[in-house]
Amino acid sequence: MNIGIFGTGVVARTLGERLQTAGHAVRLGTRDPAQTRARAEPDGYGNPPFAAWQAQHPDIRLGTYAEAAAHGELLVNATQGAGSLEALRAAGEGNLDGKILMDIANPLDSSRGMPPSLSVANTDSLGEQIQRAFPGVKVVKTLNTVNARVMAYPREVADGEHHVFLSGNEAEAKARVRQLLRDDFGWRHVIDLGDITTARGPEMYLPLWLRLWGALGNGRFNIKVVAGEAA
Ligand SMILES: NC(=O)c1ccc[n+]([C@@H]2O[C@H](COP(=O)([O-])OP(=O)(O)OC[C@H]3O[C@@H](n4cnc5c(N)ncnc54)[C@H](OP(=O)(O)O)[C@@H]3O)[C@@H](O)[C@H]2O)c1
Repeated sequence: MNIGIFGTGVVARTLGERLQTAGHAVRLGTRDPAQTRARAEPDGYGNPPFAAWQAQHPDIRLGTYAEAAAHGELLVNATQGAGSLEALRAAGEGNLDGKILMDIANPLDSSRGMPPSLSVANTDSLGEQIQRAFPGVKVVKTLNTVNARVMAYPREVADGEHHVFLSGNEAEAKARVRQLLRDDFGWRHVIDLGDITTARGPEMYLPLWLRLWGALGNGRFNIKVVAGEAA
């Protein structure tokens, strides 16, 4: 399948590589391809510049957000939360309509220092903002609760005995994403939380995720949901 991924950071690269290896044709989208290719410094997280990664992954093409969107039968939002709506506007509504958008972004706000807070919470979420702004796209919020490596290689952590979530209005879209998570990444345990308003919970988990990261000193962890018998 043709897959368009919005973003050039560690999430886009990790998922892009994994999906391409699984047999999909992946295209990444960025604001300005020439500028992204010309970057010579590691990004803010210490990841090598895009060109160094691209040299090792020549089959994964880079284009504008609109080119990645036009290419993809299925789309992935792996942009910074603060820029996600802008990225999707650049992708163009016509290139989004009718397609599934796996939304992995978190609405993190570092403007008041670290750890970041959330720019939207409680009664709304980034997933809902995207769905409202682009009613024709089928938003499925998922994978935002784990780090990039765990997203793509869940079985490297506790043999995959941990959970990830789905939120979205379309049952068929969620079923398609569940299949992709299982077949291409190896996810065993996927909980469908319900419609897109349920994205609030996974997004509001981020303050705990960030504190766990600090406490464990390692981002390769996840949570396992255990349930008792119904009373
Ligand atoms: N890193 C993780 O392990 C992890 C785990 C869970 C969830 N997430 C979430 O996944 C998303 C991607 O994370 P990341 O660490 O890979 O990269 P990131 O540094 O959070 O985001 C990089 C991407 O965001 C784009 N971007 C930033 N501002 C923009 C704007 N104003 N308009 C359009 N695009 C803009 C950049 O575009 P250019 O290419 O043009 O620079 C770049 O492609 C984030 O929302 C993050 O919270 C990350």
